[in-house]
Amino acid sequence: MHDPARPPESRRDLVGDDRAHLIHSLHNAAEQEHPHVWQSGHGAVLVDQSGREFLDALAGLWNVIVGHGRAELGEAAAAQMRRLAFATSYAGSSNPLAIELADRLADLCYPRIRRFFFTSGGAESNETAFKTARYYWKLVGSPAKHKIIGRVWGYHGTTLGAMSATGIASYWPMFEPRAPGFLHIDSPYPYRFQPPPGTSANDPRTPGEMAADLLEAAILSEGPETVAAFVGEPVQGSGGVIVPPDDYWPRIRAICTRYRVLLIADEVITAFGRIGDWFGLTRYAVEPDIVTFAKGITSGYFPLGGVGLNDDVAAAIDSAPEEQRWMHAFTYSGHPVGCAVALANLDILEREGLLERARELGDHLLRGLRSLESHPHVGDVRGLGYMSAVELVAVKSTKASFPPEAKVGPRVHAETQRRGMFTRLRGDVYNLAPCYVATEAQLDQMVNILGESIEAVLGS
Ligand SMILES: Cc1ncc(COP(=O)(O)O)c(C=O)c1O
Repeated sequence: MHDPARPPESRRDLVGDDRAHLIHSLHNAAEQEHPHVWQSGHGAVLVDQSGREFLDALAGLWNVIVGHGRAELGEAAAAQMRRLAFATSYAGSSNPLAIELADRLADLCYPRIRRFFFTSGGAESNETAFKTARYYWKLVGSPAKHKIIGRVWGYHGTTLGAMSATGIASYWPMFEPRAPGFLHIDSPYPYRFQPPPGTSANDPRTPGEMAADLLEAAILSEGPETVAAFVGEPVQGSGGVIVPPDDYWPRIRAICTRYRVLLIADEVITAFGRIGDWFGLTRYAVEPDIVTFAKGITSGYFPLGGVGLNDDVAAAIDSAPEEQRWMHAFTYSGHPVGCAVALANLDILEREGLLERARELGDHLLRGLRSLESHPHVGDVRGLGYMSAVELVAVKSTKASFPPEAKVGPRVHAETQRRGMFTRLRGDVYNLAPCYVATEAQLDQMVNILGESIEAVLGS
């Protein structure tokens, strides 16, 4: 029997039982040979089954933004569970917490995004956004507009539609065929971007403009009358913290408007202060038509995500005739406990001034990481706000990558763990996005651990 009073670490053979009965995200039996079985956390620190502390360099999965161990969030959940653990939010029903959260987000979000639908996470939010884009065009008389354009290295989740929008190809092969109607353009990846073949050496456009124009080229080649939406993360996260040039997003916005393509900002990572503002495209003075979010809204203390719709899209849903109603739903949409946790989490962010703190910490971290640039295999150190990455390369002058079988990224990851730090990598790109309450000393320690680990694997 499950005994909640018993400390979890005292329970039997955790690792053996894990291997026997649990399937993990990106499951891989070899990686489960010696797993961390995380037991507790405080601030920017995670504690595993042996009692050993690790610096959590990715704030969980980019989500635990207020840090681990916030009793206040547990209390908000418990209080709501005692009052009302669940009730449907299907049309005709609502609850005060979902109403209050939507109202609060309307104040924090882009000026024309004032209506919200809640989900249980990022992929559900993106599925909702893609379906809603198709729905919108059908309702307003352009039913052929159904294609969704994403980007190489974009990550949008792993449900079938989200996986099809995701541009990290390793997610596809064993689950194909992908959903039809999804395609990808290249990323605005300053370190590796190449102008498309045939571009003149005298082309006056900046790399950011050229990368944005790939969207126009794709829309024209597919036919604007077939394209429903473009989806992109303001800064690509899981793909390796790819920070676009400043002129990229304004041009993307203009192209979307010109061809009547909805702009979906996937802000599952960037919302709630990760790149400086409550919502990420604010930094570029760009407003999307649809925004998706998850992770930081509850700091991961409850699985909750959502979608914000601008006035036009919301008005279409509101005015649809009964036979064309928005037949989209999740049991847990508007979950009162999740919404209570989100409200308490937003209180913490505001009360403790954590968006300002994240900006300062982001500057501090990036400055520290830049000290690693002189290493012969550190090809690129990049970041925006409080998300950053270090890309390791075989040959700095040519930017040639290491062969995957050299497993440089995993070996560096192993060394960092040996030194007490944990994160996730994309190949040989080491991502860092700690919680907003990390101390400067902890960030300095992260930089030191990463530097030492790179030297341990690749020499000095
Ligand atoms: C930008 C982005 N979109 C979507 C997702 C998918 O979210 P979830 O894992 O909650 O489905 C993630 C998860 O990392 C993400 O980073």
